[in-house]
Amino acid sequence: MCGIVGYLGKKNTKEILLEGLKELEYRGYDSAGIAILSDNNFSSFKAVGKLVNLEDKTKDFVTDKFAVGIGHTRWATHGKPTELNAHPHVGSSSYVVHNGIIENYAELKKELQEKGVHFLSQTDTEVIVHLFEEKLKKSADAFEAFKETISELEGAYAILLVTKGEDERIFFAKNGSPMLVGINTENEKYFASSDTPLIGHCSDVNYFEDGDYGYVTPEKIVIFDKNDTQREPIFTKLSTNKLSAQKDGYRFFMEKEIYEQSDVIVDTLLGRLSENEIILDEIDSSLFDGINEIKLCACGTSYHSALTASYMFERYSKVKTSVEVASEFRYREPIMTKDTLFVVISQSGETADTLETLKMAKNAGLKTLVICNVDNSSMVRIADASILTRAGIEKGVASTKAFATQVVVFWMLSLYVAKLRNTLDAQEIAKQIALLREVPRSVKVEDSMHERIKRLSKRYLHGHGFFFIGRDLFYPLALEGALKLKEISYLHAEGYPSGEMKHGPIALADPELFTIALLPEHLLYEKSKSNVEELSARDATICAISPLVFDKADDYIQTQPQSHYMLEFFEMMVVVQILSLEISVRLGNDVDMPRNLAKSVTVE
Ligand code: M6R
Repeated sequence: MCGIVGYLGKKNTKEILLEGLKELEYRGYDSAGIAILSDNNFSSFKAVGKLVNLEDKTKDFVTDKFAVGIGHTRWATHGKPTELNAHPHVGSSSYVVHNGIIENYAELKKELQEKGVHFLSQTDTEVIVHLFEEKLKKSADAFEAFKETISELEGAYAILLVTKGEDERIFFAKNGSPMLVGINTENEKYFASSDTPLIGHCSDVNYFEDGDYGYVTPEKIVIFDKNDTQREPIFTKLSTNKLSAQKDGYRFFMEKEIYEQSDVIVDTLLGRLSENEIILDEIDSSLFDGINEIKLCACGTSYHSALTASYMFERYSKVKTSVEVASEFRYREPIMTKDTLFVVISQSGETADTLETLKMAKNAGLKTLVICNVDNSSMVRIADASILTRAGIEKGVASTKAFATQVVVFWMLSLYVAKLRNTLDAQEIAKQIALLREVPRSVKVEDSMHERIKRLSKRYLHGHGFFFIGRDLFYPLALEGALKLKEISYLHAEGYPSGEMKHGPIALADPELFTIALLPEHLLYEKSKSNVEELSARDATICAISPLVFDKADDYIQTQPQSHYMLEFFEMMVVVQILSLEISVRLGNDVDMPRNLAKSVTVE
């Protein structure tokens, strides 16, 4: 994902920007660039690929006096990863870097082009710098021009802009994409899209709020809020420990990653939704020519997202779909026919069992696709096509945001195929696209909800086992909830289809059997409820997760009313993740690195 840095001061600006970008490298990117303004002269460099290419290009460039500079790592959305599309984007005498997406860029671009403005790139970002320069023609004050520019932008952004004639100012604006500014005793100012690049340089930082805009000079930071009211910066001490800073104040990476889901899903959706169709630039629709079956193959959490996908492919795309555990598939001499699209799912792209099944499918001449979080991983390199989940680096061994983004990708893909095959009408596709836009909201963690789960978790530290139960798509979610709990609490947990409990497991029911029941309002509610009532009648301890009050439960976690079961799915996903986390914390376990587990399982 994109990263932003900025610097104002007397030190080696080039090195500071490059070092800052290095700290953001883990987010993933495909090009990078910097622009430095010193003595009213701009120097700008861009390079495709890794930062080392940019370092190479700038090796003879020296910055040894006061300067303002901005830098960016770009993860292509609008336009291919080329040098022209890399940031900073230039006007006639200004440069801009931007994270996020300017939703009304097409209209703005058209208006600017009609005024004779020439665009160099295919990006949405370039409109910002041209719009600013158009405003500047009519205004004597660069900040006024910047303010007017921002007021015309719609969408999510973190923006830094520098312009000739203003050698001591960096203009900034933030809405929906993170950004902070840091200070020290040397009157320097540092910007970044997360705090790690600032560690070691700044003592205090101000995290911008949505709607903030303003500028910095050596002497001051001028911030206006979304109501155009000037406000003082709110400084907090910056950690000196890189690792704890990377946790952004959360206790564990897993916790941070749960909270991050809303933002990373925005990234997953970025550039892939129009009003009435799914845009997946990375695949060609011919991938589905001649395909009569989809076979999904994965391990662990990725297997659960594959199971979830199978419901969507059959329900929305009307394609026969089967799901395989990779370690089983490898050795069971499976029949592979060429009318099957073989899809592997993997956070890491390196899991040995899954990788091997991909090779088997390729050797058998099947078309292959990988849904993966890591670009250039082995699976991405081998598969015919790939769709990246864009979850950012996932450090917690127990996968959370990778799962969430995999399910989002599968939802998009099932609608993409539905459109190709005409299995859903245009109205239904548009409706579901509108729902997809709501997913980031549905996974936002409410403090009250987290607090409630934390309190409740103390009742679930013993017992002889957990059953997570659900029906339909909520069955794979139940499996995932149970896996999360097992991994980090070391308590025995199983995921089960609610309707299947009466065929055996109900024999275990007693007060020491904990049932975590997923009861969505919009999918088989009455049927699921009856299954839970059967368990309740046998005195099992029930914790119901539902938007509807359920009086047969011992505990009840009330979710928000949602308009569709998929939004309920995502909200309940967060609940089961937090429940596992809090149980594990109470048991004193290592949440991020649970015993016996590895993040990437490269052995079979
Ligand atoms: O990187 P992958 O998605 O291929 O990994 C597959 C599993 O090893 C992984 O999902 C594992 O189950 C996680 N620890 C789950 O939290």
